[in-house]
Amino acid sequence: MSSTYANPSVTAPVEVPPAARLIQMILGYQVTQVVGAVARLDLADRLAAGPRSSAELAEATGADLDGLTRLLRAATGVGLITEDKPDRFVLTPLGAFLATDAQPASLHDLAIVTTTPGQWLPCGRLVETVMNGRSSTRAALGKELWDYYQDHPEEDAVFSRSMGNTSAIKAAEVVACYDLTRFSRIIDIGGSQGVLLAGLLEAAPKARGVLFDRPEVIATAHPVFTARGLADRVELVGGDFFTEVPPDGDLYVLKSVLQNWDDAHASRLLANCHRAARPGSSLLMIEGVLPTAPEPSPMHLLNLLMLMQVGGRIRTREQHQTLLEATGYHLQQIIPPQPSAYFAQSLLEVHRR
Ligand SMILES: C[S@@+](CC[C@H](N)C(=O)[O-])C[C@H]1O[C@@H](n2cnc3c(N)ncnc32)[C@H](O)[C@@H]1O
Repeated sequence: MSSTYANPSVTAPVEVPPAARLIQMILGYQVTQVVGAVARLDLADRLAAGPRSSAELAEATGADLDGLTRLLRAATGVGLITEDKPDRFVLTPLGAFLATDAQPASLHDLAIVTTTPGQWLPCGRLVETVMNGRSSTRAALGKELWDYYQDHPEEDAVFSRSMGNTSAIKAAEVVACYDLTRFSRIIDIGGSQGVLLAGLLEAAPKARGVLFDRPEVIATAHPVFTARGLADRVELVGGDFFTEVPPDGDLYVLKSVLQNWDDAHASRLLANCHRAARPGSSLLMIEGVLPTAPEPSPMHLLNLLMLMQVGGRIRTREQHQTLLEATGYHLQQIIPPQPSAYFAQSLLEVHRR
C-alpha cells in the first residue's frame, strides 16, 4: 500500500530503449520479490559487519546454498549487493537501506510487507478491479484488508512497521515545514505504532500526544515511545474511528488514512474528528493530492492501488475541499512535497470551524 508514494523526481533517469524499458516494467515484479527476499532473510543486517560468502550466509539464514547464491547474484543485478571477488558478497549503499537500523529510516519492513499475501495477492487481480470498480481484496483474501489483518497478526505487525518506515521519513519533512510548538494535545488518528506522532512530539516539547488506532495495533505501539523516552507524554488508545475518536485535541493528525476510504466512510471519520475536536482547533492531513491536469503523477498509480486494495481513493484539491467543508472544516492551505521528498504526499492544513 505504501511503495507507490515514492516521488519519482528523486530517482536518477536511466536511458534505456523503449522496448527494454517496457520489458523491465513487465518483469518488475521480480525485482520487488528479490528486494523482499533480501529483506526477509535480513541480508543487509548480516552483511553490515563486512563481506560474507554464500556458504556463510546460507548457514546464517538456514537457506538452500544454491537458492541463496542465485538470490545474492540477482540482488547484485539490481544494485543491492556487489560480488567484489568470486563468492564474496558486499552490501551496497542502496542495499544498506534494508538494514533494520538504517538511517534516516529503514525500508526493511516496507520491502517485506509488499510481498506478503495481504498486499501481493490482491495485486494479481487488478484487472477485476478495473472491470468492476471495486477492491479485489475480498476476492483474493476472503475478507477486507483490516479484517484480514485482524486474523493475521504477523502480517498486521509487519504492515504497521512498514508504515513506521515511511512515517519516520515523513515526520522529518513535516517538522521542517509545520510549526508544532503551538499545540498542547496532538491526537494521531489511525496513527499505527506511533512513529509519526513520536517525531511530532519531539518537535513540540510541551505537547502531550494521543495515539489512536485499532486495539490490536495499539497493543504493539508502546516500544516506539519508550525507545525515544516519550512514554510519559503519550496516551495509547485503541478503538474504531467510525465509532468515536479521543476528545479535546488542539491538533488532530490524519496521515494516509482518508485515502483508504470512499467518501461515505471518509465523511463519517471526519465527522467524528469534528465532534471530538475543540472549536478553532487544527487538523493536519498528510495525503496525496491528485492532479486535475492531464500530467503524469505517482498519485495516479496510488489512486488505482487504493481502489484495488481497500476501495479508497486519492482526492483532488476540490474533492478534499468538498469533503472537509461538508463536515465543518475549512481547508486553509496545501503544502506540496519538496522535489527532494521521498514520498509525494502533501500537507493539508485544515481549520475546524
Ligand atoms: C494506511 S495506515 C496509516 C498509518 C499511519 N497513519 C501512517 O501513515 O503511518 C491506516 C491505519 O488506519 C488504521 N485503521 C483502519 N481502520 C481503522 C478503524 N476502523 N479504527 C481505527 N483505526 C483504523 C489501520 O490500523 C492503520 O494503522
